[in-house]
Amino acid sequence: MGRKPATGKVNRMDNPHNRLIIVSNRLPYRIEPDEREGFAFTRTVGGLVAGLEPLHAQPGNVWLGWADEPAGLDEAGRARFERALAERSCAPVRLDERDAELYYEGFSNSALWPLFHGFPQHTRFDEEAWEAYVRVNERFRDAVLALARPGDTIWVHDYHLMLLPSLLREALPDASIGFFLHIPFPDYETFRMLPWRRELMRGVLGADLVGFHAYDYVRHFLSSCRRIVGVENESGTLFADGRLAQVDAFPLGIDYVRYRDAARLPAVRRLVAELGEEKGHEGCKLMLSVERLDYSKGIPERLLAFDAFLDRFPEWRGRVVLVLVTVPSRENVASYAALKKQVDELVGLINGKHSTMDWTPVDYYYRSLPFERLVSLYAASDVMLVTPLRDGMNLVCKEYLACHDGGGGALVLSEMAGASYELHEALCVNPFDQEGVVDAMRRALEMPEAEQRRRNAPMQERLARYTSEKWAREFLDAAADVKRRQAGLSAHLLGPTSAGRLLEAFRGARRRALLLDYDGTLMPFSDDPARVAPDARLRALLQQLGAAARTDVAVVSGRDRATLESWLGDLPVDLVAEHGIWFRGRDERTWVLEEPLSDDWKDAVRPVVADFVDRTPGSMLEEKDFSLVWHYRMCSQELAERRVIEIKNALGDGLADRGIALMDGNKVVEVKPRGVDKGHAAHRWFRDPAYGFVLAAGDDRTDEDVFEAAPESAWTVKIGDGPTRARYALKNTGEMRALLEQLAVACAEEDAEGGDGASPGAGRRDVLRAPATVMPRTRALARA
Ligand code: UDP
Ligand code: G6P
Repeated sequence: MGRKPATGKVNRMDNPHNRLIIVSNRLPYRIEPDEREGFAFTRTVGGLVAGLEPLHAQPGNVWLGWADEPAGLDEAGRARFERALAERSCAPVRLDERDAELYYEGFSNSALWPLFHGFPQHTRFDEEAWEAYVRVNERFRDAVLALARPGDTIWVHDYHLMLLPSLLREALPDASIGFFLHIPFPDYETFRMLPWRRELMRGVLGADLVGFHAYDYVRHFLSSCRRIVGVENESGTLFADGRLAQVDAFPLGIDYVRYRDAARLPAVRRLVAELGEEKGHEGCKLMLSVERLDYSKGIPERLLAFDAFLDRFPEWRGRVVLVLVTVPSRENVASYAALKKQVDELVGLINGKHSTMDWTPVDYYYRSLPFERLVSLYAASDVMLVTPLRDGMNLVCKEYLACHDGGGGALVLSEMAGASYELHEALCVNPFDQEGVVDAMRRALEMPEAEQRRRNAPMQERLARYTSEKWAREFLDAAADVKRRQAGLSAHLLGPTSAGRLLEAFRGARRRALLLDYDGTLMPFSDDPARVAPDARLRALLQQLGAAARTDVAVVSGRDRATLESWLGDLPVDLVAEHGIWFRGRDERTWVLEEPLSDDWKDAVRPVVADFVDRTPGSMLEEKDFSLVWHYRMCSQELAERRVIEIKNALGDGLADRGIALMDGNKVVEVKPRGVDKGHAAHRWFRDPAYGFVLAAGDDRTDEDVFEAAPESAWTVKIGDGPTRARYALKNTGEMRALLEQLAVACAEEDAEGGDGASPGAGRRDVLRAPATVMPRTRALARA
């Protein structure tokens, strides 16, 4: 990692261990023109910055974000500017003006933000904006690469940089890269509207750990993952391009103590007292609303609800003031400018309609407030209205509760905010239900102090525990854990060194057995299982290996006997069909049943499976001698998943009584006799001490039975991703075939040298006469 040394512009990087590079569109400071210095730094507003600030403050950590140099600086001014950034541990990414506009206002805030928040009416898809988004993500990649050193953790944030994880991954295959989305992830139906959905999905999957605020967003992401790029997951663990990654929920908290203590400062208490005097007379309550001016925050809807409240409960006129703080945001985006106009007008309408000589119902501010002022407003307010139409998390409601630590204050909270998953003791409302919001306003204003305290206490306790610091620590610990799990798995990869040892063991053994699964191991999958006949090269390879002196080859497959016989019956290999039910020795004409089996059960099971075929478009039923197989490779995966559960439930009860069992395979569910599996069949070879070398290769759940039954000394190889009991893994059938080619070369060399003098087939064990023993198998597949 780390090509060039850091630009020298960030000087607080003396901690060489586990340095964190935070990457987000915004730096935690806004840089504005200033007459005296040429520039001034002011703190940026927003949940992302609020959450990450404490982490950034730790020595050594760096924040990398978009920062243009203020115009008109001379050389000395520029040097001061660089110094000022470095002193704040900020590394700037400079963007071309036009690209910045298209990427930030165009793609990020006119396509991703509205779509992900469920506002298709504000969503614009523009090819030019997308191209700029790609270019800017690449600029960020270059900036990170200029800074990164081995051992750094890179944590990429938010929707502006969804391509960055995989761009970084290409350059730094082993780096620890995290990604966190601070906004909701929409459901598949919404996400799939994006013309660039695949690129974005792939972009995010470059990370080791992908985090969201809420579990619902995790579910949505995983569903899109499966449906758009075909990546399956197990409890949020998935394999993207052969690399293990984890997806999980980490709800962002706040620096609780900072808000709690600030609310107790004498200066803040003075402001609170002043506010009480300023905002009205005796008994007048304060209702507060604070946020960036954003259509996702539901400001017009809240104002309309307040208007309806004053209409419905006239006794509250003159006794409540709504303090409405809106922070300017994304003013160059048309939908935001329109919203500003709408809010201005609504405030005017409501104040015009309800005001009296000594009371104005809405106290409206359009500016960002300094910290102390904000805290005093929180502390002074009787009711906090947080009613976004959609919000990834929302920190304002958490900050409000912290400022009322140990006390009352009524929180009205939208169910559509991520925070509502944690703050269910609040007065939860559906922001689209005006009547419900009006009722909640009244309940909040009239709620007895004791009830307020009773509701707040558990929320405050939770917030004090799960702080932003804890959030960051948990995310980074989880990212480190992914790295450990990857290390555990990568030990399985059959790289050149272990392949060399395998070859050596193969050459050194007097007799050797190769147990090879067929589909997914020797041949890649196809949508039509009937189209996977062996190609000429595979047949030649099996011929060569099977005919070699000292080598026995068995194809151990789930396929029916007729298919195996027609494809491979003329080759010098043993065949195992239907997952161990049938066996045919290479020189034999007949198949033998491993043990007496019955197929009586089929008549009862067939109509059930057939019914599932009818109800699940794209699925099909395959009938073998002693099993029925439901294939769902070509179905909608989400529907198939549901059906798999249903089919198991439908068949479940009667199975054991009939001596049959259900088995999950690669996009198949198979109903077959209990206790007969490939592992059971493989004992023929495993228990024969003559084999000094045994290789067993397979790709799916049914091959795990073989790996599990294999002796310690066997070379077990899993083809493809995923947790396995095999000792080694190869990426695909191509790699498996390449390995077999190497073995075939070794055989040819031996034969050319005269080998150990054995003639082809000489010394071959008569496996036919060594019946398999049934070994109990109960251990579950361990997670990777
Ligand atoms: N905030 C601020 N000054 C203001 C208003 C708000 O610093 O005048 C902060 C507020 O304290 C909170 C953040 O802005 O930490 C807003 O975060 P939230 O997650 O609620 O919403 P977002 O803006 O990220 O959508
Ligand atoms: C939300 C987003 C942040 C963003 C912030 C302020 O919190 O998740 O990524 O920084 O809003 O928006 P802005 O466009 O001003 O950066």
